[in-house]
Amino acid sequence: MVELKKRTIKSLTNLDTNKSKDKDKDKPITQQRLTLRVLSRIVVITALLIVVYFTSKDDKLRIFASQSEKLLSGKVQTLQCSPEYMKEINVYEGCFPKKCKRFVTDTVVSSLEVDNLLFIAKKGLKYGRSLGGASIIDLHSGAMSKGQFFINIYESPNMKKLFTEDDFNLYRGVKEKVRHTIANNFGVDVDKIYLTKPTFISEITSKNAVTKHDEYWHSHVDKETYSSFHYTSLLYLNDYNVDFEGGRFVFLDDKYNTTIEPRKGRLSIFTSGHENLHFVERVTSGVRYAMTIAFTCDKQQSIEDPNIDKYIP
Ligand SMILES: *[C@@H]1O[C@H](CO)[C@@H](O)[C@H](O)[C@H]1NC(C)=O
Repeated sequence: MVELKKRTIKSLTNLDTNKSKDKDKDKPITQQRLTLRVLSRIVVITALLIVVYFTSKDDKLRIFASQSEKLLSGKVQTLQCSPEYMKEINVYEGCFPKKCKRFVTDTVVSSLEVDNLLFIAKKGLKYGRSLGGASIIDLHSGAMSKGQFFINIYESPNMKKLFTEDDFNLYRGVKEKVRHTIANNFGVDVDKIYLTKPTFISEITSKNAVTKHDEYWHSHVDKETYSSFHYTSLLYLNDYNVDFEGGRFVFLDDKYNTTIEPRKGRLSIFTSGHENLHFVERVTSGVRYAMTIAFTCDKQQSIEDPNIDKYIP
């Protein structure tokens, strides 16, 4: 009995020592396995993070208006007006918006009107164009890009009588449609919003910038760039991914970037304050045409419609 007990104790002790010996022997292998396990987990986690990073990057870009979809009844995104914008515009009774927003519609300006606007722009630009990627033609001031500078289309001898009464009528007609669209959609009195400058047609190619005027891709607030602006409208004259690549319009929001893909005849209107920080992506191929038409609530800042009398005799 005593013997048995002793043996049991001995074997137990043996077992114990064996165990601890085993442990010591196994230690390097266990550590190796552990290291491997940790390593493989790191690999898996890193891969997951990479996947999440790239997919979330896509998630953070929201297409508000895609080129392939014709927006028949328009699309609206309401926003909180920036305090500065609200403070400034509040004094203009009948002109401040019920809500700050973005509005896109594809049914206001016709395809024929767009064709004619493009024709007008190209017929002028033929005599100029920037050395860099971005050119403008402004029928109000007469400014047109040429080389590294601007010329006045109404003073240039070889452009005399280039624009006709019909051209000016068409231009005015489109502008009026835009003005009424703003009034209807922003709850504004149509007689309380005025055309302001600059209002122009732009032509963007993938050429490298030569002067600062060619750098259209910086993010900005219209109200800061042009203090008279209260409502910005952009009329797209040709198609993203058909006539050019790149060149999408991007709003920079807190959580998402919101894009508008240019579409022939697409009209995009937004309040010009900080709520609508934006930029235009660089055009990577083809030629992009758009028209910027801006409106103000401040009568002092209004400009006249362009007309045939602009020509200096
Ligand atoms: C939006 O675009 C800008 C410019 O490309 C970029 O710096 C910013 O990180 C983007 N924001 C989001 C939320 O993806």
